[in-house]
Amino acid sequence: MSAVHVIHENPAWLGPFAEAFETAGVPWRELRADEAVLDLSAVPPEGVFYNRMSASSHTRGHASAPEMTRGVLAWLEAHGRRIVNGPGALDLEVSKLRQYARLARAGVRTPRTLAVADPADLPRVAAEAFGARPFILKPNRGGKGAGVALLRSPAELEAHLSSPVFTPPVDGVNLLQDYVEAPFVTRAEFIGGRFFYAVRIETAGTFELCPADACATPAGPRFEIVDTIDPRLRRAFEGFLAANDIEVAGIEFMVDGAGQAWTYDVNTNTNYNPDAERRAGRSAPLALARYLGSLLDEERPARAA
Ligand SMILES: Nc1ncnc2c1ncn2[C@@H]1O[C@H](COP(=O)(O)OP(=O)(O)O)[C@@H](O)[C@H]1O
Ligand SMILES: [Mg+2]
Repeated sequence: MSAVHVIHENPAWLGPFAEAFETAGVPWRELRADEAVLDLSAVPPEGVFYNRMSASSHTRGHASAPEMTRGVLAWLEAHGRRIVNGPGALDLEVSKLRQYARLARAGVRTPRTLAVADPADLPRVAAEAFGARPFILKPNRGGKGAGVALLRSPAELEAHLSSPVFTPPVDGVNLLQDYVEAPFVTRAEFIGGRFFYAVRIETAGTFELCPADACATPAGPRFEIVDTIDPRLRRAFEGFLAANDIEVAGIEFMVDGAGQAWTYDVNTNTNYNPDAERRAGRSAPLALARYLGSLLDEERPARAA
């Protein structure tokens, strides 16, 4: 039977989507990237494939999941299967460098960022780029804010790099970035390539802003849904998504004291905050399930013909 196949590796994030598929009456199955056994001579099942591979998979012991997913997507493409968030999305999910290059191409402003291949160069590069100003260190392959640090000087960076809190990035690439000072960040959610809603997140000093219930902590950040963002930014984001094979994403930006928006993170594997949704009477998981269901309906007659 034809179904929506969800490609993922973190069952803790799947609950709200399972419920939404149920409510929307959309048949679905899991395709676990961390447990997949791929027989390349087999024909993929019928249906629509929704890729939710996450940049932070290595933090759950699933370091091979991105590579496995790349192979699965190539196999699906070879058979002409409909993929939501295809290879282009996965390519950006695992690299902020590539995200920023593509955002710039779409006319979206990103904070000044320097990618550094050899960690020994980090203090020198930071001193040259930022002088005495504070700056951000983050891994190229991010996720959940892991490894993101605000540093006040090259000396502080040196101490940080040799402290036990520092874990080298899984792909070896460190990013140094302009620090943007703002009381909150905004995460704009897109479904089917179109703006759905935005979440304003009061960071309260933490950089770990994963919205899923599975990530919640008592003193964590506060999430509040807002219905609009600057229409020019919204159009630029939608253009960026269309150009990069992305239909579902949460895009994060900050607005500085001068009113300038800085975009710094694209989450093609996005999670929604259930408390904020309840308060606002919105459901992104349901909208997503219906969207995927509509694609499934389009597929069925096409296959039968
Ligand atoms: N350049 C920056 N200036 C200020 N805060 C930042 C900057 N970059 C990231 N942050 C903070 O750290 C959080 C996590 O960083 P992000 O780039 O989104 O990494 P991840 O992919 O791990 O979510 C952001 O949501 C924001 O609160
Ligand atoms: Mg982020």
